[in-house]
Amino acid sequence: MQSPTFIFYFTLTLFLCVNVSKAQNESPTKTIVVDQSGKGQFTTVQQAINSIPSNNKQWTIILVNAGVYKEKVMIVKEKPYIILKGMGKSSTVIEWGDSGNSMESSTFKLYAPNFMARNITFKNTFDLEMVDNVMKTITWAPAALLYADKASFYNCGFVGIQDTLTDLVGRHFFDNCYFEGAIDFIWGSGQSLYQNSVIHVNAKRVGLLNAYITAQGRESDKETNGFVFKYCTVTGTGPAYLGRAYRNHSTVVFYRSTFDDIIAPEGWDAWYNAGKEESITYAEVDCYGPGANKSKRVKWEKKLSSEEMKKFIYAKLFLNQDNWIEEQLKHV
Ligand SMILES: *[C@@H]1O[C@H](CO)[C@@H](O)[C@H](O)[C@H]1NC(C)=O
Ligand SMILES: *[C@@H]1O[C@H](CO)[C@@H](O)[C@H](O)[C@H]1NC(C)=O
Ligand SMILES: *[C@@H]1O[C@H](CO)[C@@H](O)[C@H](O)[C@H]1NC(C)=O
Repeated sequence: MQSPTFIFYFTLTLFLCVNVSKAQNESPTKTIVVDQSGKGQFTTVQQAINSIPSNNKQWTIILVNAGVYKEKVMIVKEKPYIILKGMGKSSTVIEWGDSGNSMESSTFKLYAPNFMARNITFKNTFDLEMVDNVMKTITWAPAALLYADKASFYNCGFVGIQDTLTDLVGRHFFDNCYFEGAIDFIWGSGQSLYQNSVIHVNAKRVGLLNAYITAQGRESDKETNGFVFKYCTVTGTGPAYLGRAYRNHSTVVFYRSTFDDIIAPEGWDAWYNAGKEESITYAEVDCYGPGANKSKRVKWEKKLSSEEMKKFIYAKLFLNQDNWIEEQLKHV
């Protein structure tokens, strides 16, 4: 038996701990400045991240002044509540040129939940480079890997060729962003809404081959992941497929988006799942532009009922049931 005094102090300590951690989370956001010329606390983004304690509970802005930061950056899962903020997506760029692995090679890797990025570009230069005026062989070379729940991106860029954005695990929201690539350049099993964004296909880089925008990885009707593109613009050079079915329940919806004349007439590719197309959910709803003519699309493209459609296109129903997107915005 513990003495009553012990129990009193134990309970008091517990009470204080819970309240301190709660208070921290509500305390004013802290800011760390990164500047290449030494006008901030750190000169690299990773140094700034390293300075944040593990099990961080305070929203922390890492303000990255203009510049091209040549480094690989990782946020481990013990460091939630980080806001990475640049000076504009053409002014602040984090880039590296690792390749060969669709996760490990990524320039930016996110493993912590509750993350926000604004006004910054993530780039993988590997597939974009030429050697002696000859294009290198293209391979997996992601610019960003998202492996955590509740990440939102505003006015950000993602630039690469193959697997540019590894949108692997968790709920992710993108607004006013730019995505560039040629092969499976938005791929994974994330549950993500891409809104008001530009998707720039660089099929020129793959010569005469087709480009593939998405390779979504849902594997059963019990899973809730999928990619929804709402009010987006697809531009660049084609021919581009809107998606190819990386897994047997691959789920992608384009809603009220504009397609330039670069979409392959069939629109979608069953890839590994040829013959099992009925479990794939690919749909285009009220899209416009010269690439949006559906007369030659694959016969198995889905026609969603209005109830099914709402579950994808209403953020509240698809990925924002707990209002996490608005909660995060309180801390900018
Ligand atoms: C991005 O930066 C511009 C100025 O460079 C600013 O006007 C804008 O509000 C910023 N956007 C976000 C999402 O922080
Ligand atoms: C889909 O793929 C999963 C994982 O590979 C497998 O367990 C499942 O049986 C497949 N379902 C169908 C309908 O092919
Ligand atoms: C779509 O394409 C078909 C066949 O190429 C053509 O007959 C039809 O007029 C087009 N529709 C629109 C709205 O352009």
